[in-house]
Amino acid sequence: MPSSLIDFKDWTHSDCEGLFSLALSLKKSPRPLKTPGSTAALLFFEPSTRTRLSFEIAALRAGVASVVLDGGAGSSLQKGESIEDTILNVAAMNPDFLVVRCADSVPLAELSTQFSAKVLNAGWGIKAHPTQALLDALTIRDHFGSFSGKKLLIIGDVKHSRVAASQFELMPRLRIEIAVCGPPEFLESLPPAQKRFSSLAEGLQWADVVIALRPQIERHHQTMKISRSEYAQSYGLNAEVLRLFSAKGIIMHPGPIHHGVEMQSEVLRDPRSRVLQQVSNGVYMREALIRWLGGEKT
Ligand code: NCD
Repeated sequence: MPSSLIDFKDWTHSDCEGLFSLALSLKKSPRPLKTPGSTAALLFFEPSTRTRLSFEIAALRAGVASVVLDGGAGSSLQKGESIEDTILNVAAMNPDFLVVRCADSVPLAELSTQFSAKVLNAGWGIKAHPTQALLDALTIRDHFGSFSGKKLLIIGDVKHSRVAASQFELMPRLRIEIAVCGPPEFLESLPPAQKRFSSLAEGLQWADVVIALRPQIERHHQTMKISRSEYAQSYGLNAEVLRLFSAKGIIMHPGPIHHGVEMQSEVLRDPRSRVLQQVSNGVYMREALIRWLGGEKT
């Protein structure tokens, strides 16, 4: 059984299954708030709304008291201390969990071998965002009752998205098939064999689940070749194009949404939208993860 979640390399199908059952059982019958017994340090060196707050709520519900270093403001980072040293010093305070969001350049996996706290990756540059992939999978399971054979279309900036990177690790373990759709500049990092659709209409007709990603502008090294309005026209979700998508399908987005670019606001009112359910599921999933890594089973 893995002791941390940095990526899914050591996670088997049955580890994932155990975790999903626990999350679903927490969702069905929430356990009473526990008095904090153990501790978590949440270190967010990159911006976050949903992930940070849902880890805080999840920790509280799981009986884990958390302390937060948010963006490093007011910390010794401002005196020139490195992120590596910051992580090692906080780990030396012996929290049970270290929840970390940081840039790719931070050697998170290597650092985690130097202390005993369980590390939960809350977004690591463009490398991985495993809890987002887990909560997306939980949202799929919630709707369809199973994973096997479902078809997931990821639309957009796959190249710079850690969410997509973790989807590619997790979904095949759950026997979910992935296809992508987006401007070529966002798909160039993928192997040639990856299933892809050049037309959004065709992709929507194939899929059971669609996930729209925002262009990760802060991670682009050059300006986008495609303009925001061209993007919206060819790859943006709106009520009209979604007529081609299955009535039984679901529409997801990890947030934050760029309204009018990858998604028109009207899509949030579509009965197939699960965007806010994803956020609710994020808390159950993270609570399950904390409890599960702490040795609790269903
Ligand atoms: C994602 C992230 O930070 O990678 N957001 C999130 O965690 N809900 C996606 C994004 O920023 O586009």
